[in-house]
Amino acid sequence: MQDKNEIEKLNQLKNAVQLSPDNLLLRAIYADALLSSGNSAEAEEEFKQLLKKEPENMELHYKLANLYHRQNKISKAVVLLEPFINRDNAPDNMLLLHINLLIKENDTRQAAKFYEKLKQRNPELKDQYLENLLGARYEDAKNNENEDENGNVRLRPEEDAPADEDILLEKPDISFKDIGGMDSVKEDIAMKIIAPIKHKDLFKTYGKKTGGGILMFGPPGCGKTYIAKATAGEINASFIPVGLHDVLDMWLGQSEHHLHDVFEYARRNTPCVLFFDEVDAIGASRSDMKTSGTRGLINQFLMELDGVNTSNEGILILAATNAPWYLDTAFKRPGRFDKIIFVPPPDAGARKTILDIILKDRPMEKLDAEYIAKAAEGFSGADLKALIETCIEDKLKEIIKSGIETPLSMKDIKKTIKTIKPSTKDWFETAKNYAIYSNRSGWYDDILKYLGIER
Ligand SMILES: Nc1ncnc2c1ncn2[C@@H]1O[C@H](COP(=O)(O)OP(=O)(O)OP(=O)(O)O)[C@@H](O)[C@H]1O
Ligand SMILES: [Mg+2]
Repeated sequence: MQDKNEIEKLNQLKNAVQLSPDNLLLRAIYADALLSSGNSAEAEEEFKQLLKKEPENMELHYKLANLYHRQNKISKAVVLLEPFINRDNAPDNMLLLHINLLIKENDTRQAAKFYEKLKQRNPELKDQYLENLLGARYEDAKNNENEDENGNVRLRPEEDAPADEDILLEKPDISFKDIGGMDSVKEDIAMKIIAPIKHKDLFKTYGKKTGGGILMFGPPGCGKTYIAKATAGEINASFIPVGLHDVLDMWLGQSEHHLHDVFEYARRNTPCVLFFDEVDAIGASRSDMKTSGTRGLINQFLMELDGVNTSNEGILILAATNAPWYLDTAFKRPGRFDKIIFVPPPDAGARKTILDIILKDRPMEKLDAEYIAKAAEGFSGADLKALIETCIEDKLKEIIKSGIETPLSMKDIKKTIKTIKPSTKDWFETAKNYAIYSNRSGWYDDILKYLGIER
């Protein structure tokens, strides 16, 4: 059932769209809102209209294909993505979706091929569940047991839910000192989830309820995953990362069970940081789940968060998303993700600190902080890392050629910085529209503040 706020929000958006039908970004937001409120048919129509106007827009193709995927209209989804998947600039989520579609079509070989391609392009992207799934099927392929007449490996039966050893557990060697800036995020994490573990009795004495988690949202590359890891390092706890996107589809019908396994695993491995990356995957699925009859998943997630039948003591729950607008509001209730924080790009001071951290133990002349403050406006931590990596590559080339070892200098940085476009810009374009037209009870106030927009 749609609640009143949701209907009101949709109506507002609809009116806004009618007033400015050429604002395509706004129409895309309307389509998203239709989708997340369960109006799949209308959303589909809106996406199709938009695609007529923007036939080259990959994100729209992705979204419509994703919708088809969830409705199990596999070949329709495949057709939509086909023109783009071999392009170099096809986004990761599109490739991931394509891989999922291939798996649904029992084309494991192609799926594995695309997964390899994705990983080559983006070595940090590691999808453990997908890998396990493909891995299991590789084994089958090796043994030649489950191949069909076309040489494709058949899907394994669904009861192949992941066992303990399939869930990742790390012992991070980074801590808060490795994080530049993010002071208020650190403070929130320290107070809300570290302190209750460290000072259990004190919290009890003062009757302060504990539990729940922190949800971080913001542009890519600004340290959400990094700080989650550092939180574990900070208190010498284990780190259990759970990448949710697309993976959930793969375990359709099994997902509740699987999610329960993940929480149980965390409960056996306390103290630990249980980190849900791309948590919007769960929220976003909900509207479609209403129709596909598997909405049990979201309820399961909430139940696990609430620790209904068991205790989550010793588990620090963190989650992150780039797309908070897809997230179900049910997550926000007390005791769940009742702390929702915006993680902005690093400010001038933080940029300097991040650079100091990245440059530590590397030959570098003095950094010109003032220059960095100005020239790297809007850079994410990841952009800064890319900047230095590129500088170092160039420097090494130069040294190998000349035979003369020189430290990295501001001159090198100034030369390279011009070639890097801050990757947070596009995100803010989208976020701005949500913040203005669809500000969920003030969730996005910090975005408006960051952009200097008056409410
Ligand atoms: N505040 C920071 N201090 C030090 N390094 C940082 C910081 N922010 C980002 N980095 C560097 O940038 C890399 C990317 O950051 P991270 O993966 O945490 O971004 P993210 O916010 O999780 O992005 P996404 O939304 O794309 O998942 C990190 O591995 C780290 O090296
Ligand atoms: Mg991340």
